[in-house]
Amino acid sequence: MEGERQSRHGQWSSRWAFILAASGAAVGLGNIWKFPYIAGENGGGAFVLVYLVCIILLGIPIMTAEIMIGRHGRQNPANSMKSVAEDSGRSQHWFWVGALAIASSFIILSYYGVIAGWALDYVFQALLGHFNQATPQHIDKLFEALVSNPWKLIFWDSLIMGGTISVVVFGVEKGLERSVRFMFPAMLAILLIIVIYSIDTGYFGHGLAFLFHPNFKALTPNSILIALGHAFFTLSLATGSIMMYGAYVPRDTSVPQAALAIAAADTAIALLAGLAIFPIVFANGLQPGAGPGLIFKTLPIAFGHMPYGQFIGVLFFLMLVFAAFTSAISLLEPTVAWLIEQKNLTRGQASMLGGGAMWLLGLGTVFSFNIGANWTLFGLNFFELMDYLTANIMLPLGGLLVAIFTAWRLNKQISRAEFNPQSSVLYKLWHFALAYISPLMIVIVFLNAIGVIKL
Ligand code: PFF
Repeated sequence: MEGERQSRHGQWSSRWAFILAASGAAVGLGNIWKFPYIAGENGGGAFVLVYLVCIILLGIPIMTAEIMIGRHGRQNPANSMKSVAEDSGRSQHWFWVGALAIASSFIILSYYGVIAGWALDYVFQALLGHFNQATPQHIDKLFEALVSNPWKLIFWDSLIMGGTISVVVFGVEKGLERSVRFMFPAMLAILLIIVIYSIDTGYFGHGLAFLFHPNFKALTPNSILIALGHAFFTLSLATGSIMMYGAYVPRDTSVPQAALAIAAADTAIALLAGLAIFPIVFANGLQPGAGPGLIFKTLPIAFGHMPYGQFIGVLFFLMLVFAAFTSAISLLEPTVAWLIEQKNLTRGQASMLGGGAMWLLGLGTVFSFNIGANWTLFGLNFFELMDYLTANIMLPLGGLLVAIFTAWRLNKQISRAEFNPQSSVLYKLWHFALAYISPLMIVIVFLNAIGVIKL
């Protein structure tokens, strides 16, 4: 093999640091905000089962592929794709798959920062006791007062984006790794405290039954597609985040084992979030199927009426901020690495330019909830459009292309060398999943999402 490339951005201090950072990237709003309510809406246990199958058949194989490409290319996702394709004697145009991933991360962070800003606002609302004894109408009003005020949203989004930029400026080890080392354990500790609290409500059994008792009647073809799409988003696949973090992975790391550990951590935290939230919801006689408002509208009602609710409320939203923040830095890093490599900027310049541009795009999302609520295209406001474009089109397309490239275009010698441990049975299983199962599953979701087929 040719001499190994080095990343000019440094690398993780150990394989554990990588697993921690990538788990931080994966665990985010998707786990704590989205997973519980979509599981709630789609039949609980039956949905969870399908979701687990998607993580295993599609999530882990594609994550393995992305880390391998990143580690072999050692550059931003676009350049890594190009280098790995060249090393395999393939077209340089595979560059565009990486570029698509960077574009996705750019768009996602523009709205992700705004939603993370809501969580930050709620930390203070909880702290100031605004939920105490509040009626559902009052909680609704608090939420409306937040999203209808563009200045407030801009303020919180600016804090999130400013914080994200300030961490990424310090680079891989001193910035990304150091913040995750603190935030991930803090997030996990808070989650466990809330789960213990939930056990104490006396409604833990209800939560368990709700989440794990499979109700196959509630499972529609559409919920299978939701499970599949969410498996993608929750593992941060096809956004360049994981491929970028893979570029900083030490040589001695086993890629499939790391992918397994990250996916397991992500899944465990999504399930724990459900076990933290539903008992509290049931103990307060509230509805579990509230949809996207479950966290910002239903839960505060519970916090306002339960023992130590003010304290638990602060902790809960702080946990959400930590979870979102470790994902946000992973969304900024690919653009920053690209600007450094392509435009020869310093890390400071690249972080500010990249983060600043995302912040600017985020104004579109900010205005979707107030002055721009009527600015629509295809019936979708700006935020919905960005969400639809990334989650339903760019991510599945990116994932499909990564799977096809790795299974059908990547030189076998390279993929065997990067796939470690060199168990040939495991390798063959992985290759089969990537070559046949993942593309087939993604094509089905994709065609359904754009309305070509209707399941
Ligand atoms: N995986 C994150 C979540 O579940 O909230 C969202 C995300 C982060 C998606 C980073 C993509 C990404 F690159």
